[in-house]
Amino acid sequence: MRKIGIIGLGNVGITVAYTLFTRGVADELVLIDPKSKKVRAEENDLKDALSCNHFHTKVINGDYDQLANADVLITAFGDIKATARTDDRFAEFPINVEQAKIVGPKVKASGFKGIWINISNPCDAITTILKKTSDFPKNRIFGTGTLLDTSRMKRQVADYLGNQDPKNIGGYVLGEHGNSQFTAWSTVSVGIRPLSKYISDSSKYKKLEENARQGAFEVISGKGYTSYAIATCAVRLIEAVFADAHTIFPVSVYLESLDTYIGYPAVVGANGIEHVEDISLTTAEKESLSKSADYIKGNLAKVGY
Ligand code: LAC
Repeated sequence: MRKIGIIGLGNVGITVAYTLFTRGVADELVLIDPKSKKVRAEENDLKDALSCNHFHTKVINGDYDQLANADVLITAFGDIKATARTDDRFAEFPINVEQAKIVGPKVKASGFKGIWINISNPCDAITTILKKTSDFPKNRIFGTGTLLDTSRMKRQVADYLGNQDPKNIGGYVLGEHGNSQFTAWSTVSVGIRPLSKYISDSSKYKKLEENARQGAFEVISGKGYTSYAIATCAVRLIEAVFADAHTIFPVSVYLESLDTYIGYPAVVGANGIEHVEDISLTTAEKESLSKSADYIKGNLAKVGY
């Protein structure tokens, strides 16, 4: 029985729910949000979809007490309006810190022992607070991290090169899921060839990196939020957990060397983070990663974490 809890039924949380539903990934979905009228509406809307299609997911208008035997938990609470006003995900931090301080202990009390994937922004900092306030094992809680940023970078590179499937592009955006992220160009390839065989002009790299970094704000400026891409990333991670896939993703993972959650390649499987990948980075890339970690930790220190 693949049971998934979703805390936070905003545009992201409900798109995760619907994506799980239509892809047949979940046998049971527990929908949790303080806005009870909203939960009831989403529950009924999904159940109506159930009755007219081959979907099989049982939808539960639930609460924390139904998480004890859940396999995966998604947290997607937040205030996208703050991010939209500032083009900075840390604008949501003051509100989401308070939310995380409520959610963490409640998840702990629920007896949930599965794999916890956090989407709530600023992802790396909120994942840290959820981990600390729930005392959850660090390999069983992680964030979506720079998986979406990496997908955006791949699309930027593929579009620039033309006639390339973004899935041909290897490599990572690393660091904060936010403005201090960076593209580790030394890891980026097209098939088995380094990107430098295709693009030699360094100014092009800067533009591609900035387009990826700004990807969310481009979408938010038009529709007020992002949903499909982040939900697809979250569902991809859930599928890797259920399949015990041992796939490498750039997720928000606790890095001992930097003492923070940060976007870095890690192996995702049935145990959550199976292990952190050891990748080689240039000196400049290592410095960018360390700076991004300092930015995350500096903001956490301001709120006592
Ligand atoms: C984005 C949100 C999920 O990058 O932070 O689309």
